[in-house]
Order: sequence, then C-alpha cells, then structure tokens
Amino acid sequence: MTVRAAVIGLGDISALHLAAIELLGDVELVAVCDVDADRAAAGAERLGVPAYADHRELFAVEKPDVVHITTPHSEHAAAVIDALDAGINVIVEKPIARDPQQAAAVEAAAERSSAKIAVCFQNRYNTPVKAAKELLESGALGAISGASATVIWHRTPAYYEAAPWRGTWEGGGGGLLMNQAIHTLDLLRWLVGPVSSVAGTASTRALPIDVEDTAELTLTHAGGIRSVFYVTNTHAANAPITVDIIAENGLLSLRDELTVTYADGRVETVAEETLATGERAYWGVSHERLIADFYSRLDDPEPFWITPADGARLVDIIHEVYRGSYPEQTAQLTRNGVHQ
Ligand SMILES: NC(=O)c1ccc[n+]([C@@H]2O[C@H](COP(=O)([O-])OP(=O)(O)OC[C@H]3O[C@@H](n4cnc5c(N)ncnc54)[C@H](O)[C@@H]3O)[C@@H](O)[C@H]2O)c1
Repeated sequence: MTVRAAVIGLGDISALHLAAIELLGDVELVAVCDVDADRAAAGAERLGVPAYADHRELFAVEKPDVVHITTPHSEHAAAVIDALDAGINVIVEKPIARDPQQAAAVEAAAERSSAKIAVCFQNRYNTPVKAAKELLESGALGAISGASATVIWHRTPAYYEAAPWRGTWEGGGGGLLMNQAIHTLDLLRWLVGPVSSVAGTASTRALPIDVEDTAELTLTHAGGIRSVFYVTNTHAANAPITVDIIAENGLLSLRDELTVTYADGRVETVAEETLATGERAYWGVSHERLIADFYSRLDDPEPFWITPADGARLVDIIHEVYRGSYPEQTAQLTRNGVHQ
C-alpha cells in the first residue's frame, strides 16, 4: 500500500527530505505546508500537491501516514505533538524541540501515541561513524578511557539574515550548540555513553547574533569517562568535524573517514561509500539513509531506534550549559512554558 507523506516547512533542509521521499518506492508526497504564503504557493506549483498554511488543517484534510517536520526549532514541538496525537508518524529535524520543556512535552506525546517518531540525527548513518560504533561494540578495542571532539565551522552574517530565527533565543532556542554541534554531541553520547554531567561555557564572540557562536564543554559519561568538546562558528572556513576516542587497545579518529590505530601498530581506515554531488555533497547522503530506514520500519512494533529520549537528553545537556552562560535568556524560555 502506498504510504502518504507530507512535509511541514519548505526551507533549506526540506529539499533533502523531499528528494529522499521521491527516491522511495510506495511513498507518495500528498501535501506540503509553510506559513510563508509565497513559499507554500511555490512548493505547491513545483511539487504538484496542495499546500497549507497550518499543519493542523493539513493533518485533518490529508490524513498523511508520515509527516516530516522541517520548520524552525520553536515550531517543532507543536507540530510533532499534534501529529503524534493524530496517530501520524513523524520524522522531526533536530533538535527535537527548542527547549527542555517543549522536549519533555514531545516525549510525553510519544509515550501516549502508537505512532512512531524519529529525530533526524542522520550522522549516525555515516559509514565511518557506523564502523566506529560496531568496532566499539565488538569489544576489540577494549574499554574507552576518554574522548575529544571539535566542530570548527564558518557561518556568515548572511546565513543568519537569510533565516532570522537562527540567531535568536525565541526562534532557535540557542545557537551553535542547539543548531550545529548537537549532531556531534549526539555522536559522543551514542559512541561513548550516556552523559551523567556537563560543565561548560557558551558565548557570543564574533557573529552579530543573540545566541552563542562558540562553546566548550566537559562531559562526564557513564563510568566516569570524560569527553572534551570545543565548538565554534567563527572560523574562516569549515574544518572537518573531529571525534577522537581513546580505548585500551587503540585510538579511533573520525574525520571525513575513520582511522583506527591499534596499540600493536596496525592502522585501518573506513571511508564513506557513496560519492555525493551538489547539495548532497555538503549535507551528505545520510538523510536519505535515515529516512529510508524509518519508512522501512513503519510496521515494526518497536519504537524507532533514535528516540525522543535521545533528542530530549541532548537539549537537557545543552541547557545545562546555557543556564550558566545565558541565565536570563534561558529563564525567559522557561517562563514561556510549553508551546501548545
Ligand atoms: N539534520 C541536518 O543536518 C540539518 C541541516 C539544516 C537544517 N536542519 C534543521 O532543519 C530545520 C529547518 O532548518 P532550515 O535551515 O531549513 O530553516 P529555513 O528557515 O530555511 O526553513 C524553515 C521553513 O519553515 C517555515 N515555517 C516557519 N514556521 C512554520 C510553521 N509554524 N509551520 C509551517 N512552516 C513554517 C518557514 O517559512 C521556512 O520556509 C531546523 O530544525 C534545522 O535545525 C537540519
């Protein structure tokens, strides 16, 4: 039977979701939604489906089986909760929600719904990352003793001007940690283990935005393992993300590829399999993989393996840092309460 899909939010990243839907057999895009009337009209014209201004109307009229939420962070929770309460399966872009209160409300909605939800941490599907996970789980490297990671990237003022929510607490719920570095934080949590405590600072050092452009964190994982994490959007170019994991029998280094240096001197590398072009080269091919995996598991009685709890814990960790570095702004978000 054909699965009916819809996309809410027709901005930059929606292009990857729409392309991934098109690649899937037995999945049909039935409608799109955007609050921007011009974008909605252009989407309807380009994609040949009806466009809505309000996701609730789309859900009621079109009754999609799966909805992709690709809106600004402040808009995630309301659309996800409405979808789950209507029994519609959800793929939501990261972060799961703008702030811990909204994330907890999404977790609760997922608990009471029989529909599935995936949070879009597609980097877990990168071939080198998957190889690192498998190697760590195989036990071949022995126990992990520590990790470090960096995200040293370049964002221009124009990037924030193009979508003003990105530079604000109200729309983005934070800056580089909530928007970009959350992917690498997810990998540290996934590869090294659950985070029991975090100490860190975040600040706005160079970019004309209200939210942070630089941060450094010390994470303590289960078993007392420590990760050190430095992130900035103020560099002159995008450097490769780095993740280094030190284990008893070797060192795992993730750059664009994985290099494993064993204690006995052997070195192995794992590269990405698929050569991407154009937009896909910038964002990678892992969105396609995550989305295809989600659709393939729709009939599986188990929850999708990247869970709302994963998404919510990442928002909690980031807020732990924000509370110390931006106390007024985070208090304001809390006062705004759960978005419904
Ligand atoms: N996984 C990744 O690697 C990745 C990469 C880029 C962006 N993202 C995420 O994707 C999401 C969107 O980012 P973007 O850069 O595409 O943003 P964008 O500003 O380019 O697009 C957002 C779109 O949503 C629309 N919108 C706003 N409020 C809405 C609402 N209530 N209902 C319907 N439409 C609404 C806007 O008009 C706009 O067209 C964010 O959560 C972002 O963090 C993820």
